[in-house]
Amino acid sequence: MLRELNVKFSNFLLSLSDAMDIASPQIASHQIRTSFIAWKLALQAGLPEESIERIYLAALLHDIGALSLEEKVRLHAGFEDINPDTHCILGEALFELSPLLRPSAKIVRYHHRPWSEWDEPITSQLVVESQTLFLADEIERSISRKEYILHQTERINSKISALAGTKIHADVIDVFMQISGQEDFWLDLSSPRLYSLLLHFGPFRNIEIQRKDVYSIASIFRHIIDFKSRFTATHSTGVAECAVLLSQYMGFTEAEIGQMEIAGYFHDLGKLAVPNSILEKPGKLTKEEFDLIKQHPYFTYTVLSTIGGLDDIAEWASFHHEKLDGSGYPFHVTSDKINIGARILAVADIFTALAEDRPYRRGMGRKEIEKILMSQAIARSLDRRIVKVLLDNFGEISSRVRLKQEESIEIFEKKFEKIKKADTEVVVSLKPVSVYSF
Ligand SMILES: [Fe+2]
Ligand SMILES: [Fe+2]
Ligand SMILES: [Fe+2]
Repeated sequence: MLRELNVKFSNFLLSLSDAMDIASPQIASHQIRTSFIAWKLALQAGLPEESIERIYLAALLHDIGALSLEEKVRLHAGFEDINPDTHCILGEALFELSPLLRPSAKIVRYHHRPWSEWDEPITSQLVVESQTLFLADEIERSISRKEYILHQTERINSKISALAGTKIHADVIDVFMQISGQEDFWLDLSSPRLYSLLLHFGPFRNIEIQRKDVYSIASIFRHIIDFKSRFTATHSTGVAECAVLLSQYMGFTEAEIGQMEIAGYFHDLGKLAVPNSILEKPGKLTKEEFDLIKQHPYFTYTVLSTIGGLDDIAEWASFHHEKLDGSGYPFHVTSDKINIGARILAVADIFTALAEDRPYRRGMGRKEIEKILMSQAIARSLDRRIVKVLLDNFGEISSRVRLKQEESIEIFEKKFEKIKKADTEVVVSLKPVSVYSF
């Protein structure tokens, strides 16, 4: 019997929602603020509780299908130079992958569909839920982050009123006008305490989720992290599988192995904060660019460790660039602080990166990988015992990692690249990535 993880659903979702917008001041807290507005609109409209929960859940991760930071910033600025449909289609596909998120998938699909394009009446459940999220997104994107919120409400009201009848149904706009007159709505919305306000008073605050739900959402995040670039499209999948196998060989319990898989999926979570222009830069990074890269395990740590109940996972995931001699980054911890789980993940990360194809080289074979891993073990940057386990079981580990990666690349090619290629505005970049392994 596996020990359950004690994870609050609200905390888990809010933390991941926040992680999506962590990178740029232009879009900071966009998902969370949109969720607050959507929640308030749904409450004011008197929608049934299940409906409110579906809308709120959709809003928290509504732009999950916008895979690069650049795309998120462009969407936030408006839709003049970008087709908003692409991230809605991909967002729906990602929501569909988790039973917990699935009820909100269609709302994500239609969160930019104008009222004028619906055939069904506004009383239809999907229409009113999608229109509520559409409006919440429009309101949030109308707010200037440079001006005091109560000095903006008149401008926002008239901008939103102009959408009535075309983009948004007049009844939904009316609901907004009812709450727009309340200063506390705007003050909450712009408050730095909004996160904890939603955590303590928002939907799902008393719900704990099970290991399988944490796993299914981690599995989705693995894709949004990896699919940022074709050249990392299966990286977290490979790292997770390798770390699972190594922890089996090292005698971890079944519960620990399950946590290791989740840590593998999440280890590069902080890469959501790194622009694709850096991740995909051909050739060597400048010092300034590498300084930006260095924040990714830090973000992984802050996001995971503040959820509560995921302590081991947070540590294993976030220490993957640390070295036993303290020469890693960003925490510079040394061997006495790096536990066995974190050591396994560090070896799995390097092994997977070396075995993967890069634009400037094919994935390395056994000999080259062995040479690099052994030299790092001898230099005391990697754990020698774990490197030995990997090399002793090289054949099995590499073929099982490759198998898992093939499943992932299929999802990437069949769903994601196909949809993206169909959209001439947002084409997956095929530029080579940097020589660094992230
Ligand atoms: Fe959107
Ligand atoms: Fe949005
Ligand atoms: Fe990394």
